[in-house]
Amino acid sequence: MPSATSAVPFASPYFDEARSAEVVNARMSENADARLSQVMSVLVKHLHAAVKEVEPTHEEWFTAIRFLTETGQMCTDWRQEYILLSDVLGVSMLVDAINHRRPSGATPNTILGPFYVANAPEYPNGANICLDGKGEPMVVEGRVTDIEGNPIPDAKLEVWQTNDDGFYDVQQKGIQPDSNLRGVFTSDAEGRYWFKSVKPRHYPIPSDGPVGKLLAAIGRHPNRAAHLHFIVTAPGFDPVITHIFTPDCPYLPEDAVFGVKRELIAEFNKIDDPEAGERVGVLSPFWSVSWDVTLATSAKPTRAIP
Ligand code: BEZ
Ligand code: FE
Repeated sequence: MPSATSAVPFASPYFDEARSAEVVNARMSENADARLSQVMSVLVKHLHAAVKEVEPTHEEWFTAIRFLTETGQMCTDWRQEYILLSDVLGVSMLVDAINHRRPSGATPNTILGPFYVANAPEYPNGANICLDGKGEPMVVEGRVTDIEGNPIPDAKLEVWQTNDDGFYDVQQKGIQPDSNLRGVFTSDAEGRYWFKSVKPRHYPIPSDGPVGKLLAAIGRHPNRAAHLHFIVTAPGFDPVITHIFTPDCPYLPEDAVFGVKRELIAEFNKIDDPEAGERVGVLSPFWSVSWDVTLATSAKPTRAIP
């Protein structure tokens, strides 16, 4: 029979290759915040496992350190290269998916991106957000409803997109009119909204920094599938941060930040009818898009893995 003390296996506090993660995690104070302890110990476990699988040379490890250093150095008030890294690695979409498990039928979220601007101009339904006159005219209309199909009046719909040259207004201050292709609309008593704009086009994410170099080195392009951003909010409902995608964009299956979801690919109908154009106040031909938004009631996210 082993004695009471010999039953406890002796765990050396000294570093060794086989037990490396265990040795590091054993140093965690029992008084540390429980969630932080969990996060750090999982991180150490998986980081050590990755290093053991890859077996980097010192030179390779230093390349990784230099990449992370340059990623930090690229960050300014206007440029968040770490979020871009999280985006191109699919982590932003994964964190969002974990935190927004909605009932079926509810409009899903996708990536927010760095070009959202709070307090964009508020417009009446029917207004045109395209202020530079470039691009193919488009009319978007739809309803905001709950899961049962009941209209949600007074929902706020914030929308923004690039211009036809593939840049957001904030990327071209002084070149594009301020607040070009962004605006806030409010659904009417029947939950309806509508506005005019131009058909979105694909464009590259900022690729002049370390993340762009990494993408090029692993043979990936920086292009986002053509889309129009929406944030839809209404009291008592879970806010939706989403896009609609054009169905004809060649980058749908290879969006640089994995933002495409099948439910977010809209139908774009080309209308070649001058009278119809006149009725809605655009030149024919124009694109007509019908896009309903279904909001789920606010609920705390559930955690799948304890
Ligand atoms: C965007 O759609 O605006 C965007 C999303 C992720 C990274 C860069 C841009
Ligand atoms: Fe975008």
